[in-house]
Amino acid sequence: MSHHFVKYTNVHYRYEDGTEALKGVDFKVTHGERVALLGLNGSGKSTLLLLTDALLFPSEGEVNVGDVPVTKKTAETIRRSVGFVFQDPDDMLFMPSIYDDVAFGPRNMNLPEQEVERRVNKSLQEVGLKGMEEKSAYQLSGGQRRSAAIACVLSMEPDILLLDEPSANLDARARRSLIELLKGFKHTIILATHDLEMAEELCERTVILSEGVVAFDGNTSQIFSDPEILKNVGLL
Ligand SMILES: Nc1ncnc2c1ncn2[C@@H]1O[C@H](COP(=O)(O)OP(=O)(O)O)[C@@H](O)[C@H]1O
Ligand SMILES: [Mg+2]
Repeated sequence: MSHHFVKYTNVHYRYEDGTEALKGVDFKVTHGERVALLGLNGSGKSTLLLLTDALLFPSEGEVNVGDVPVTKKTAETIRRSVGFVFQDPDDMLFMPSIYDDVAFGPRNMNLPEQEVERRVNKSLQEVGLKGMEEKSAYQLSGGQRRSAAIACVLSMEPDILLLDEPSANLDARARRSLIELLKGFKHTIILATHDLEMAEELCERTVILSEGVVAFDGNTSQIFSDPEILKNVGLL
């Protein structure tokens, strides 16, 4: 995968119960871009992220990561370059220790234990959890669990980082350190969030979803200078 862009072409997704979560989404995120994904609850943000990490597959249309279409066949390849921080960190932390949680992905890739150790140390350092290796997730605060979940993804050294409402339930300091951490991530970020300030600070570009379609795609600064944009989608 030489170019780590993400491209959505006429993406539809229908859940088994018939809910049409996405109804034709088209946009492209270029390598190194940080894009905020905004929208009311139920607008399709999480669904779009799940499709980007090959955890769901479009009912119609196509998602491409670089030159690779996201399909069941390419899922493993996709997940090697796309890292997804789930909305609930508890979905990512299930080993007896934080060390093992963060080592889980690299070990799964059959990396040598020395390389696993290097990655775990580096990732825990980056998220500010050095020294917490032997603790288990339930001994950590909410903010620390979120950091641990991010470390689990960083240890896979992804080219594209997907985050689903990462600042929810964080206190001011944890939120600040998350923003700083993400500023330091040099690759592509797609950030689903309700946190407009975080979107403004991190992402030059914002895509707003409304009822499964793109309602706005442009500079984040525009949504602050033109309140109609948020009003039109019920966000203000
Ligand atoms: N597992 C599911 N089964 C059926 N419908 C779902 C499921 N997950 C989400 N939906 C529906 O799909 C739509 C989009 O949801 P979602 O992608 O979670 O939106 P957001 O993340 O923006 O809140 C909503 O109508 C939601 O109720
Ligand atoms: Mg969601």
